[in-house]
Amino acid sequence: MIESGTDIIKLPEIKLFDKYKRRLDYLRISVTDRCNMQCIYCMTHGKIQKLPGSEILSYEEMLRIAGIFVQLGISKIRVTGGEPLVRKGVCDFLIKVSKLEGLSDLSITTNGILLKEKIGKIKSAGIKRLNISMDTLKKDKFKNITGVDAFDEVWSSIMIAHDMGFYPIKLNVVVLFGINDDELLDFARLTFSYPFHVRFIEYMPIGTSPLTSRQLFAPEIKRIISSIGPLNPVKRNRFDGPAQRFKFENAKGEIGFIRPISEHFCSSCNRLRLTASGNLKTCLLSSAETDLKTPLRNGCSDKELTEIILKTVYDKPFEHPLASNCAGVIRGQMSKIGG
Ligand code: 5AD
Ligand code: SF4
Repeated sequence: MIESGTDIIKLPEIKLFDKYKRRLDYLRISVTDRCNMQCIYCMTHGKIQKLPGSEILSYEEMLRIAGIFVQLGISKIRVTGGEPLVRKGVCDFLIKVSKLEGLSDLSITTNGILLKEKIGKIKSAGIKRLNISMDTLKKDKFKNITGVDAFDEVWSSIMIAHDMGFYPIKLNVVVLFGINDDELLDFARLTFSYPFHVRFIEYMPIGTSPLTSRQLFAPEIKRIISSIGPLNPVKRNRFDGPAQRFKFENAKGEIGFIRPISEHFCSSCNRLRLTASGNLKTCLLSSAETDLKTPLRNGCSDKELTEIILKTVYDKPFEHPLASNCAGVIRGQMSKIGG
């Protein structure tokens, strides 16, 4: 049941499907396009285009849209940014989202800088699973990649989260040729010391120009880290998403490969994205977006919003442009979309 103004509308039990019969049950909500880092693969240093505050959805607006999505069958929500923890009030928002009836999983992706100060409230919102960006284990390189000298801060946040029982803690490593590919073994070995899920992510050339002259794809990364020992596949579960999971014998943690380029997962994609400015994106790498904010601010009913959402979802593209053209570059800015 969703309240809209004075009306209480009982939405029909519709599930979200697209025209290729893919069932969509996972929504990523970007609460802000702001970030306290400037990762080299995400934004151009010094040239960040920020949305004016009035263009960003309020938490009430996000909550209303999230409620409609949950009524329509979304059972998993991930809150992203930019960096979600830089937006004031985000923990109270998380607590409200966690109370949406029908939602079975809520998680966040963070760069970890503000994690320590907000971790108690994050835990009280019922969040157990954390994804943290960590592209290098070297302090100097961390600054070069993110623009911020915060390796110690982020690493200690990860340790606190680990001590507080967050599980799994997934470390997102975007693999960049010539930048952090010398650390693949160090990252892989981390899984012997901690129960972390180290996820090697293929770099997606989003933005104005590609970062590296050569892409490192998952098979090559797997071959390199296999020098440590055999990597055994891990049985998939419903929280897996697109990662292909493996584990070294006797390791506490796991290795995951996220292969948006070399083996794109479009045919089984279950994701939708709500951008901070209130646009619905049905494909991360497509520039197509549907504006939900304008109808919402013009006073449309939940039923009208539902119709817009259903139509947009039905038209979700079959695959992303890089799937058929590995050499392409995608226009846009990751910090506005939320990864
Ligand atoms: N290619 C691959 N992954 C990216 N991310 C951000 N930009 C890119 C990119 N160009 C990932 C980071 C971050 C998550 C939100 O998105 O790993 O953790
Ligand atoms: Fe910020 Fe994440 Fe983009 Fe890095 S990848 S600049 S942490 S939004």
